[in-house]
Amino acid sequence: MPTPDYDPKEVAALQADQLASAVSAGRAAFAAAPDLEALAHEHTRHLGPRSPVALGRRELGALPPQARADAGRRVNDALTALQSAYDERRVELERDRDAHVLRDETVDVTLPWDRRPPGARHPLTLVQERVADIFVAMGWEVAEGPEAEAEWLNFDALNIPPHHPTREEQDTLWIDPPTAGLCMRTHTSPVQLRALLERGAPCYVVVPGRVYRNDPLDATHSPVFHQLEGIAVDEGLTMGDLRGTLDLLATAMFGPDVRTRLRPDHFPFTEPSAEVDLLCWVCHGTSTDPGAPACRTCGSEGWIEWGGCGMVHPVVLMSAGLDPDHFSGFAFGMGLERTLMPLHDMADIRDLVEGDVRVSLTLGVEG
Ligand code: DAH
Repeated sequence: MPTPDYDPKEVAALQADQLASAVSAGRAAFAAAPDLEALAHEHTRHLGPRSPVALGRRELGALPPQARADAGRRVNDALTALQSAYDERRVELERDRDAHVLRDETVDVTLPWDRRPPGARHPLTLVQERVADIFVAMGWEVAEGPEAEAEWLNFDALNIPPHHPTREEQDTLWIDPPTAGLCMRTHTSPVQLRALLERGAPCYVVVPGRVYRNDPLDATHSPVFHQLEGIAVDEGLTMGDLRGTLDLLATAMFGPDVRTRLRPDHFPFTEPSAEVDLLCWVCHGTSTDPGAPACRTCGSEGWIEWGGCGMVHPVVLMSAGLDPDHFSGFAFGMGLERTLMPLHDMADIRDLVEGDVRVSLTLGVEG
């Protein structure tokens, strides 16, 4: 209700000098606010519902009409001045904040970073794929078999009867109970039988895989290692085909300068049989020279056994139900560690089996 005898001078909040000082206090506070949070706080103090100017505005209603217009203009001017001071500072502070964000969150795409992958495939996996590719390119198939193998396939069907010295030589790891007739396969040769039984003849198959022997770990032996088995059975295959296939594998893996040799040997499942040797990739055969330093990679033999091979024994063909008068074949079994080691000039097989991830990181990344 307007009070007719009201003297505007008594309403301190509406006096010009009071309003002017409220405006200058507000302006100073807005200008001094260091960030948007502080500015919001000052907004409450100088423009909020309990700020001096807002309180003054509330008094307007109590003024007599003749005084209200004047005082109203003064309050509005003060509010407008404060509001524009506030807006100005807010724009400034927002611009500052955006500039900070742009600067602080910038990603320097030119900075160097660690390009090493956190892991890599094991070099042995890669070499298995490489040899498989070489044979697939010639039309062969890739097969696999179980690592826990039937004794009959690991030995008997391969013409290795009980008490044959080969069973002792291969230091078999047997699976309990002994009556189960199961062992950890000592070579990939049982897959020869599996392939022939499954496919019949003609048959051209390679089998990369893991094999087990009760052998101590040293520079060139490991109780778990990998072989590449190959078997080809067809009409009219000869030792010449075997030689040609092995030469192709050797040059595809090691390049045209590789030196290999075939040496007569004996395996119960091939006849005739041979060993395939590689010239030692560490001493290049020089350790056999009189007075030369010893080579622990080849045991100063100059050559390193790469694998065994031969013409498939008639007994094996018959185990697979094939007529040896009609079909002939050749087979081979190469050590995959011994295929990989010369590729990287490795002297010690233990580097491949000890699980040091640096081996995979440096050798296992495909170039
Ligand atoms: N299985 C033999 C071994 O582990 C290697 C071998 C020799 C495989 C002659 C063959 C072969 O296929 O014909 O010592």
